[in-house]
Amino acid sequence: HSADAQRTDLMTITRFVLNEQSKHPESRGDFTILLSHIVLGCKFVCSAVNKAGLAKLIGLAGETNVQGEEQKKLDVLSNDVFIKALVSSGRTCILVSEEDEEATFVEPSKRGKYIVVFDPLDGSSNIDCGVSIGTIFGIYLVKEDREPTIEDVLQPGKNMLAAGYCMYGSSCTLVLSTGTGVNGFTLDPSLGEFILTHPDIKVPKKGKIYSVNEGNAKNWDGPTTKYVENCKFPKDGSSPKSLRYVGSMVADVHRTFLYGGIFLYPADKKSPNGKLRVLYEVFPMSFLMEQAGGQAFTGKQRALDLVPTKLHERSPIFLGSYEDVEEIKALYAVDN
Ligand code: AHG
Ligand code: MN
Ligand code: MN
Ligand code: MN
Repeated sequence: HSADAQRTDLMTITRFVLNEQSKHPESRGDFTILLSHIVLGCKFVCSAVNKAGLAKLIGLAGETNVQGEEQKKLDVLSNDVFIKALVSSGRTCILVSEEDEEATFVEPSKRGKYIVVFDPLDGSSNIDCGVSIGTIFGIYLVKEDREPTIEDVLQPGKNMLAAGYCMYGSSCTLVLSTGTGVNGFTLDPSLGEFILTHPDIKVPKKGKIYSVNEGNAKNWDGPTTKYVENCKFPKDGSSPKSLRYVGSMVADVHRTFLYGGIFLYPADKKSPNGKLRVLYEVFPMSFLMEQAGGQAFTGKQRALDLVPTKLHERSPIFLGSYEDVEEIKALYAVDN
């Protein structure tokens, strides 16, 4: 009987969020409506990514973004889709995207109480070769109901209400936390619904994988150099860790959630703040990692305590299995 019940008792992401919402009697369903628009954006991008090669959607868009990166067609398309979906939800007031230099302030008639920061397409360098890419998002409440300003966005990650990512890989997987644990949903294309497939994700306490771009080793600081050395030549006689690095943060972090280990994008001499952007890469992934029992560290502090001063600010990030991050914190403690 239970197998049948399992098959017919479909737990979709919408139903899951409605269940969550029922725990907040005061809620008027705004978050559920916001999330359904984010989910719509993810479904659209998933289908565009799957058709990219055929629909001539690969290659450059011919523009450069505020990051100084050449925008890919899919970067621009996914950005447009998410901006439109979020504005049409009528639940947002400020939108921050990796692809837009300035924040989008939603017109008063369509304004809601949520701020959404997002990376519409993460791992763009992997689009043309068909390697997994993703979308990353974080959700804040606007601080007061006065005219929203950029100050409302520059909040520490610990203020986030929710965060998530969607990975467009062999399957389309959406991982979400609304502050009470982490759950993973897989898109069933025949239903067009995200079904709960990874309930209550917990990152293993310790892992056997480290994930970093070794090509930057020449420019690393002491603690990172020492940590990576220990991964390869353990002093305690344990076996060396494996190196796994996809080059799409979503893919590297998703593997870390499921298999354990540590993901590092350290500072280096060329980029003293590392490469990853605080608001829409570091914060959402750090929020999720803490919710899954792991931790996230910047080399100086708990990542979620950082208070950003600029929209596209960057930070070094070390996140993953609790004990693995403890080791690198100890090395930076000596150094700081
Ligand atoms: P994006 O494609 O959104 O600009 O992000 C790319 C990021 C991130 O996905 C990944 O972890 C990192 O760039 C890889 O950088 P390197 O190629 O320097 O290792
Ligand atoms: Mn980019
Ligand atoms: Mn990114
Ligand atoms: Mn991106």
